[in-house]
Amino acid sequence: MFVGLDLGTSGVKAVLADADGVIVGSADATYEVSNPAPGWSEQDPTTWTKGVAQVLAHLKSTHPKAYSAIQGLSLSGHMHGAVLVDADGAVLRPCILWNDTRSHVEAAALDGMPRVRDLSGNIVFPGFTAPKLAWVAAHEPDVFSRVAKVMLPKDYVLWWLTGRYVTEMSDAAGTAWLDVSARAWSPELLAAGGMRPDQMPDLLEGTDVVGPVQTARADLGLPQGAQVVAGGADNAVAACGVGALGEGDGFVSLGTSGVVLAGRDRYAPRAESAVHTFCHAVPGRWYQMGVVLAATDSLNWLSRITGQSASDLSGGLGTTIDSPSALKFYPYLSGERTPHNDAQVRGGFTGLDVASGPRDLTKAVMEGVSFALRDSFEALKSTGVTLETALAIGGGSRSDHWTRMLATVLNIPLERPDESAFGAALGAARIAICGVTGATPASVMTKPPVKDVIHPDPEHVAAYDDAYRGFAAAFPTLKAMP
Ligand code: XUL
Repeated sequence: MFVGLDLGTSGVKAVLADADGVIVGSADATYEVSNPAPGWSEQDPTTWTKGVAQVLAHLKSTHPKAYSAIQGLSLSGHMHGAVLVDADGAVLRPCILWNDTRSHVEAAALDGMPRVRDLSGNIVFPGFTAPKLAWVAAHEPDVFSRVAKVMLPKDYVLWWLTGRYVTEMSDAAGTAWLDVSARAWSPELLAAGGMRPDQMPDLLEGTDVVGPVQTARADLGLPQGAQVVAGGADNAVAACGVGALGEGDGFVSLGTSGVVLAGRDRYAPRAESAVHTFCHAVPGRWYQMGVVLAATDSLNWLSRITGQSASDLSGGLGTTIDSPSALKFYPYLSGERTPHNDAQVRGGFTGLDVASGPRDLTKAVMEGVSFALRDSFEALKSTGVTLETALAIGGGSRSDHWTRMLATVLNIPLERPDESAFGAALGAARIAICGVTGATPASVMTKPPVKDVIHPDPEHVAAYDDAYRGFAAAFPTLKAMP
């Protein structure tokens, strides 16, 4: 038996799976994010370990026999957060999370330094780890001077479970300290960020074994010798959960934020497109993704202001699509990552009419998010990605209308997997299986069963293509708005 833990921003999910990756049990626990100042987003690392202890205790009580047969466990984690510990392993301050924007000045400074983009393969976004440490150096020098190790969120849990300071390539790739091509800490990037190599945890591949669960964690009741496997960053591990490892495999996620992700056999960065190019959680692979900050979040916003639930709003549109609306929505409610890398730009509607009602606004919101995902898809294509089809995942993909619209806008068929059979927790369980049994990722990380395939609507592909071009052309005007 194997456990996959998905350490998210708002909670932790666990699955218990057999050696074939079939899920036999699951549990989840929630926790809070604290926002002590505008743009700040922090979490106390012990909230994660408490959450992990809670979900494991739940699995133990609901599946005692399977729990006593656990051979390995692994983790998916939210990226970029900075957990700072001193020489005794004590946490120095709350973890500054991925969605904390306080270090935008430090990020821009690092991003402008020569060779930083070349070595890291990415724009240095404010959410990344290196600018957070530069912020701590400038604003909390006492804390900074005591930093013995910097860990990413799931690496703190790895340390708690095993006593080892380790990270792995997929999470390390989001720090702006890793040479993403060489899969090694970059002395040059570390120096640019004012850090020392000895402050970095040991680097593993995601499928490497970290070690056995330490005796200090005997209270978890895991079988003697259960091994902890390094795991990976959330999107990389989700990709392991749906078999998106190499060329031609990818997914589109209509979650709170939207993601278009493609597996890569080679390192092909294009930082200026604001595409993320990161190491995969399996050896010898990378992945690239475009991120739309407000995907279902845009529909949730509309739901809040109309007082109608998101499912009522989307249900009102039926399953088929018609021509693109004259009413247009730009989903930059929190700025945008790909392809604009613009934290200041804000969204809007154009073409509002006295007759526009909630149904029209809903359709415009779904179109705007679909066009933003097409922007990400075009950015990925500019790096050499080819996806002839993709899996559609995330809450928004439950809407037939939205998925058909997205398939038409991207002009590729979208496959919807069986909902129970994927996710980052399953991806983490699959990593644990590979790490402990030595099975190859390709044999374990297969595609989930597909429930249905949504094809582009041939009657509307050309019209949506034109409408997308209009959407893309409007960006400079929005950006120029005061
Ligand atoms: C990726 C990113 C997210 C976070 C939160 O750059 O910020 O994947 O890990 O999910």
